[in-house]
Amino acid sequence: MYDREDCFYQIPGVVDPYVLQELAVIIQNDEPWLQSYAFDAKLVDKDLMVKDWFYKWLYEQREFDAGILRIAPSTCYKWHTDCERNVTINVLLNGVHNSHAYFELSGDGTVSNIVELSYERRTRYLFNCAIQHEVINLDVLPRYVLTIQFKQPVTFHELLEQVRK
Ligand SMILES: [Fe+2]
Repeated sequence: MYDREDCFYQIPGVVDPYVLQELAVIIQNDEPWLQSYAFDAKLVDKDLMVKDWFYKWLYEQREFDAGILRIAPSTCYKWHTDCERNVTINVLLNGVHNSHAYFELSGDGTVSNIVELSYERRTRYLFNCAIQHEVINLDVLPRYVLTIQFKQPVTFHELLEQVRK
């Protein structure tokens, strides 16, 4: 049984426009998408990430790798926890887009009590990957999310405390 506050946290402010523009270029370029835990992924260079003040500050605290994940149209990633990380920070890179991310607050295997993370544009969210979550892309376009993976283990609540300071 979880609360909404355990699942995600909207970080104040938005991502640097230059960085967003460069991420859009990466999405469109000819580099092949790699397979990463059933997602298509492209790595994002650290040097680009640190042009955004928040990621620069964060990288000085905790090193991480960054990437863009792509989910195909009409695709659902069913309830799961991420085995390789407890927490991430996500930014939805699409504009207006018909896709949804849910957390399971409680459930009995058939019926779930859920909460939605409605991504605001250009906004970073702490995302608790250790709680069951599901992503559904109902759109005709792929869904693109900027995500990170810390090099050393950290929990959602540890990172939350650090980011709130
Ligand atoms: Fe996940």
